[in-house]
Amino acid sequence: MDSVLADQADRNSMHGLRRRKALGAFYTPDLLSQVLADWGIRQCADIVIEPSFGGCTFLEAISNKLGLLACSSKVKNVFGCDIDIDAFNKLKGIQELGYSESNFHFKDFLKLDCSDIPSKADLVIGNPPYIRHSHFSVEQRQSIETWREKYQVTYDARSSLWVHFVLHSLNFLKENGRLAFVLPGSFLSADYSKNIHETLNFKFSRVLAISLSERIFLEEGAEERSVILLCDGFRAEPNSSGEMHIVNCSSLSEVNNIVKAWPVQDFPFRNFGGLGATSCVESSSIEDFLAVSAALPIKQFGHLASINIGIVTGDTKYFIRTASDWAERGITRDHLRFVVPKVKDIPGIHLTPSQCQRLVDSGVRCLLLDTDAGNLPYPVLHYLNSYDEEKIRNLATFKKRGVWHQPDDHKQPDGFLSFLTHNGPRLIVNSARVNSTNSVHRVFLNLYGRDVGIKLISISLLSSYSQLHAEIIGRICGSGALKLEPKDALRLQLIVPQNIDRAELLSLFSSINRHMKKENFDEQSIRQDVDDFFDRSLNLNGALSRLGVALHRARSSRRGERLLNI
Ligand SMILES: C[S@@+](CC[C@H](N)C(=O)[O-])C[C@H]1O[C@@H](n2cnc3c(N)ncnc32)[C@H](O)[C@@H]1O
Repeated sequence: MDSVLADQADRNSMHGLRRRKALGAFYTPDLLSQVLADWGIRQCADIVIEPSFGGCTFLEAISNKLGLLACSSKVKNVFGCDIDIDAFNKLKGIQELGYSESNFHFKDFLKLDCSDIPSKADLVIGNPPYIRHSHFSVEQRQSIETWREKYQVTYDARSSLWVHFVLHSLNFLKENGRLAFVLPGSFLSADYSKNIHETLNFKFSRVLAISLSERIFLEEGAEERSVILLCDGFRAEPNSSGEMHIVNCSSLSEVNNIVKAWPVQDFPFRNFGGLGATSCVESSSIEDFLAVSAALPIKQFGHLASINIGIVTGDTKYFIRTASDWAERGITRDHLRFVVPKVKDIPGIHLTPSQCQRLVDSGVRCLLLDTDAGNLPYPVLHYLNSYDEEKIRNLATFKKRGVWHQPDDHKQPDGFLSFLTHNGPRLIVNSARVNSTNSVHRVFLNLYGRDVGIKLISISLLSSYSQLHAEIIGRICGSGALKLEPKDALRLQLIVPQNIDRAELLSLFSSINRHMKKENFDEQSIRQDVDDFFDRSLNLNGALSRLGVALHRARSSRRGERLLNI
């Protein structure tokens, strides 16, 4: 019995959501556990393990399936683990299902050994805890370290707890065994999952990952998207890689049909090689997007520019202040330099010197301490001397640069790209020739990009086409915002016509910039203007407006405003 982890979980727990977050305890809807159990169990004699049985939803589904197979009412072959005492109380309450209580261990699954189960398993099934690496408790870290040493596993150290569960499950499977798990969206989107894909592909003859747009844990208080993972044909000594299908699916009600169709040779479900699998964009819209892409003059952002993060100060509040803050400290403008503040403070798509001045005058925190000059006056020296010496010695960011108080790399990007947005990304043209911190991405055009021109790129990014692409490839944060890392932004596709009416482009750029500077501007009508511009330039017969409808649906779904149910 692993009381340490359970105690820890209980100590952390307080009540309700916090307790459940500490345990990763969000229980699977019955419909889904049933689909997995129906697929996973093949016969009465199957040995089944549920590594974290929590709310017993899988145990109920397993019992239903065994009933359908007309198995004996005493269930001897199902085993499980959990560190939450509530799970065992729940188990007691479903005794009529015939489970043998001694098969269930009050134990950390990572400490469950093959010798705790009478033989290797035909199926490991469940919904493991989705606890992020950064949220591991001390006990969780210790347990993982012991497990890693015992099994000599290699995996990305930033992995969430579900990764360890997936890998440990493999130790329990017999030849031709199955794995059926409900996992978070990070199974498809996180960099640390790539290793897991390789391992699963290698260890199983076939793998199906169903990416579900419908958020099935919303009612449970968790905003995670889900991936349903089915792995078939476990091979202890594989000699070749298996096959992996990734399927996009809008609603829970479709999952059963997909699972049933899977063994069929010509798997009929949409599979775009994983494109958009973790997005909220419907499969039919991804298809439309691909069709439109084939007919348009498209360039990837990465062909036109390099994109990287802005300067990292190491302590923004210390280095960047408002004009009046600096004045109070006696530090004058010749020792300050404008840097782009938070992107929300810059309306529009064009940053000019006069706008920078307005931001300074209106008290926005946008002035960076500039200590480049040889002879620093007393107020600057006094300010620098007041800084915590231990931080100066130990902060990794400070150690990386020559002079700890000189974070500026003096670059002048052509534009700034917002990367964490409620709607979609926006490219701000940098006519002020200023630098930025890492609150925005910096865009540096190459020769091709200069040829195309920053204003056309900025306008093109606002089209329904590129905004939908951002939805397809971007990462959805828990809050429902859309995030684009520089490497995602480089993949963004833009419409770049060969011949455009430059006068019309410049007038559209000014008009959009004016509109976007207004509070509560109408994003949809601005996007419509951009779509119309490309429609006219390329005779597209309204193709972009149709993508606009798909974009609207995807955004609503991402923000949790409406669940898709097609
Ligand atoms: C997402 S819930 C799933 C519960 C159940 N499988 C279901 O879908 O209804 C995760 C469960 O993992 C349990 N858990 C967390 N850490 C664990 C560990 N190290 N070993 C075993 N169970 C654990 C939690 O107590 C919780 O019951």
